[in-house]
Amino acid sequence: MGSAVCQGCHEEIFNGLQKNPHFKVDGSDRWGFKEQVCESCHGPGSLHAEAADPALIRNPLKVPLLEANRICLKCHLNQPSRVGSFRIAHARNQVACVLCHSIHKPKPKRTIEICGTCHLAQVTQFQRPYRHRLMEGAIDCIDCHNPHGRLLPGVLREVSANEPACFKCHGDKRGPFTFEHVPVRTEGCTACHEPHGSANPRMLIRANVRFLCLECHSNLGTSPSTTAIGGVPPAFHDLRSPRIQNCTICHVKIHGSHVNKVFLR
Ligand code: HEC
Ligand code: HEC
Ligand code: HEC
Ligand code: HEC
Ligand code: HEC
Ligand code: HEC
Ligand code: HEC
Ligand code: HEC
Ligand code: HEC
Ligand code: HEC
Repeated sequence: MGSAVCQGCHEEIFNGLQKNPHFKVDGSDRWGFKEQVCESCHGPGSLHAEAADPALIRNPLKVPLLEANRICLKCHLNQPSRVGSFRIAHARNQVACVLCHSIHKPKPKRTIEICGTCHLAQVTQFQRPYRHRLMEGAIDCIDCHNPHGRLLPGVLREVSANEPACFKCHGDKRGPFTFEHVPVRTEGCTACHEPHGSANPRMLIRANVRFLCLECHSNLGTSPSTTAIGGVPPAFHDLRSPRIQNCTICHVKIHGSHVNKVFLR
């Protein structure tokens, strides 16, 4: 039908689209919709244009999920992007492209406005006393999450092959260390930290550093499995002594050390 015809009745949307990157489609043969940009997403529009009947045109927000995604993936499939390649895992969870991306409404200034509509609980975690400063704009959901990627629990954006996004900003924790603290590599940061925010200093998962350590470094039964997966502290560690309770006073290089096998420096 041609976008000029649509313009006749949808002037405002047409004008808006001229400022949208999708207008490129109207000006080039490359996508097969030269001067027909509207129909690249809405499908053939001649019946609708004649009858002005909304039932005769496709609105991507009103069609089934898979069909909606197919519209977009026609052009975007396998396209690399700043925020990861498209593996549409959110789609498997019933989140279509168009639930995060509106074409005609202005683009939200911050990602939190998109994610927050569905993940209010996570947004709230960023209001805890110890947190990444998301509310202040210092970090964004997509600094850690790939909105187009697989979203299994704990699967995060990768900075480079298999590296958690955390290293983009916390490169000093990357290693390789001569003496690594095993769980940093095997279990990752969330073995000890709550990445969104926490009631505990340093965003730790436990209020007290020693309780965190002793969960893995004691066979006294602080956890249901009573065997230690790390070594048991040597005898001079009198756990009743306040001097010993503050483990990281001495074990300062807790993420790994280049020189000391028990992370004292
Ligand atoms: C003769 C006028 C006219 C023309 C030409 C026209 N439309 Fe429409 N269109 C309407 C009216 C009236 C509605 C219903 C009210 C509204 O949503 O603005 C509508 C609604 C729509 C909707 C919303 C449907 C829904 O169910 O939500 C889409 C999408 C649409 N038009 C796309 C197009 C496209 C693409 C073209 C060009 C191929 C086009 N229109 C040409 C009059 C027109
Ligand atoms: C890149 C895909 C895409 C292109 C190109 C596109 N639309 Fe849409 N259109 C959508 C989506 C998605 C919606 C659902 C609402 C939204 O996301 O903003 C929509 C909704 C609409 C609606 C319903 C009213 C509304 O705002 O919800 C109308 C009318 C419409 N489009 C007309 C047009 C016209 C006219 C053009 C060409 C000038 C056009 N569209 C180009 C994807 C597109
Ligand atoms: C006909 C091909 C085509 C279709 C269909 C299409 N796109 Fe695009 N899309 C493009 C092109 C071309 C660009 C601009 C890329 C550039 O600037 O290099 C683009 C850019 C984008 C961008 C980035 C620009 C921005 O606004 O931030 C998003 C997001 C996007 N498209 C989402 C969608 C969604 C969602 C759909 C389905 C409703 C869709 N696209 C359908 C061709 C298409
Ligand atoms: C869970 C929400 C979500 C879903 C679902 C989603 N996206 Fe995105 N997408 C985003 C966010 C957030 C960005 C980054 C936007 C920004 O930088 O402003 C983005 C960016 C993009 C870009 C621009 C990439 C770049 O390099 O700048 C394109 C194109 C795009 N998405 C297309 C799609 C398509 C196609 C689908 C469906 C297969 C889809 N998106 C599904 C949230 C989503
Ligand atoms: C339209 C609603 C919606 C939007 C918008 C949305 N999500 Fe989701 N998201 C879901 C649903 C539904 C699931 C499936 C798991 C669930 O039930 O929480 C999910 C799952 C996830 C998961 C994985 C959870 C797990 O345990 O596997 C992450 C991470 C996530 N979303 C991040 C984001 C980010 C980041 C954004 C913004 C770019 C976003 N989501 C936008 C609805 C949404
Ligand atoms: C500092 C990095 C970081 C930022 C920023 C971040 N997340 Fe997460 N998020 C994670 C990690 C790591 C996990 C995995 C937690 C785990 O495995 O226990 C996660 C888990 C999730 C989950 C799965 C359910 C859950 O709570 O464990 C959802 C949903 C989610 N994030 C949404 C969001 C949203 C929405 C935002 C922005 C408001 C956001 N995240 C910002 C790192 C981050
Ligand atoms: C975009 C950069 C960025 C990313 C990505 C990031 N962080 Fe951070 N992180 C910061 C900054 C900046 C601070 C300092 C606190 C502040 O000013 O917000 C910080 C502080 C921390 C703190 C210490 C808080 C304190 O009280 O000293 C921990 C723990 C932490 N981050 C863990 C993580 C983990 C785990 C991840 C990955 C899931 C991660 N960060 C990803 C920027 C980032
Ligand atoms: C075995 C538990 C454990 C693991 C796993 C762990 N941390 Fe920590 N982290 C700690 C403890 C304990 C502290 C507090 C140290 C202190 O008391 O000064 C801390 C402090 C921090 C701090 C703030 C102080 C500093 O050293 O900069 C950042 C940032 C941080 N961790 C990031 C990370 C990142 C990123 C990962 C994943 C690569 C990670 N941590 C994995 C236990 C851990
Ligand atoms: C999630 C479990 C876990 C947590 C929490 C944890 N560790 Fe470890 N730690 C280990 C494992 C596993 C090893 C490697 C043990 C081995 O190689 O036999 C290790 C190794 C060590 C070592 C090197 C000596 C040794 O036993 O090999 C020291 C010292 C140590 N941890 C101290 C701490 C301190 C202090 C804390 C608290 C800040 C802590 N750990 C928290 C699992 C943990
Ligand atoms: C006053 C300093 C100090 C404090 C506080 C301290 N440690 Fe140690 N820790 C050491 C020293 C020194 C060694 C090395 C002893 C050796 O090499 O014989 C050590 C060794 C260890 C080892 C290694 C055992 C092995 O098999 O090699 C573990 C595990 C450990 N400490 C855990 C802890 C935990 C958990 C806490 C907190 C409850 C803690 N430490 C508090 C000084 C301290």
